[in-house]
Amino acid sequence: MSDRTILITGAAGEIGHGLINALAGQPGVRLIAMDLREVPEELHHKVDSVHQGDICDRAFIEHVISLHRVNEVMHLAALLSTSAERAPEQAHEVNVQGTFNLMRTAAEQAQAYDEPVRFIFPSTIAIYGVEPSEKDELGPIREFQALRPITMYGANKLYCEAMGRYYGRYYRSITRGDRRPPIDFRCLRLPGIISADTLPVGGTSDYVPEMIHASARGEACVCFVRPDTSLPWMMMPECVEAILKLAKAPPLARCVYNVASFSATAGEFAEAVQRHFPGAELSFEPHAGRQSLVDTWPADVDCLRAREDWGYEPQWTLEQAMTQYIVPTVRARYGQAPAPEGAIT
Ligand code: SER
Repeated sequence: MSDRTILITGAAGEIGHGLINALAGQPGVRLIAMDLREVPEELHHKVDSVHQGDICDRAFIEHVISLHRVNEVMHLAALLSTSAERAPEQAHEVNVQGTFNLMRTAAEQAQAYDEPVRFIFPSTIAIYGVEPSEKDELGPIREFQALRPITMYGANKLYCEAMGRYYGRYYRSITRGDRRPPIDFRCLRLPGIISADTLPVGGTSDYVPEMIHASARGEACVCFVRPDTSLPWMMMPECVEAILKLAKAPPLARCVYNVASFSATAGEFAEAVQRHFPGAELSFEPHAGRQSLVDTWPADVDCLRAREDWGYEPQWTLEQAMTQYIVPTVRARYGQAPAPEGAIT
């Protein structure tokens, strides 16, 4: 058997793509891709097995986990914040019941083989609920502060963090005796993620990726939040690297970690995009509902815990991310000529 048999849910999504590309071909790693949607053909040869199905279907989850004797789960499948506000009950089914199905089945598998299953869970800045008046006073937010989500997505993720902590630390604590808990639960609270290769679906931090991809294609883009809206961000390669680093870290005393590279406003991103894609047509028409969600998310997060416990290192500033990752990658993707001499690249 391989050392690591990793089930990746939400494999057809943005982070799924990134993780499969990074893990494919690593020695001792078997990848099992799962998604409700069809997993794109270009990923098939990079994984050992592909399963199309619903994480809410417990029999399907049991079949896949036991068939492959999965010992690690990277659970990316979720309805993001805007989608979840449009269909809150469905979001609860997918984000909570789906996660419970996976965790419970992983725990059963762990008990059957007497080997804990590692469970990597991306949580989110949406688990925070910060009053606008508190933002300056709180500064970079710490993991235990302002846990008052106003969205179904944030509430779902916060509960699943607690469920993971339970399976990872306290499972059946009255009757378990000296047996280890079945799950080794590790969670990152992700900021807004920007990929130069793919576009997100149904998130509320999507306004920055939308600006970048539209401008690279020469299309106009209307940003749905105010220019002064500030959030923490990281680029997809940094996100993938952080997930892989957390997954490989030795046993950890804590299980939930903030990560982010830098904070920036929508206006700062618009200026950076305009500098690098001269002629980009960007305008702002805030959508009251979506704005009200991001207004409660922290402008900055404190990553000290992740640095101390597993050596997390933020990589890029906004400008470095533009020049070293976004601009060259989207130019290659949309077939644009390199910038003329003298333009900032
Ligand atoms: N990117 C997520 C969203 O916008 C937040 O973590 O829903």
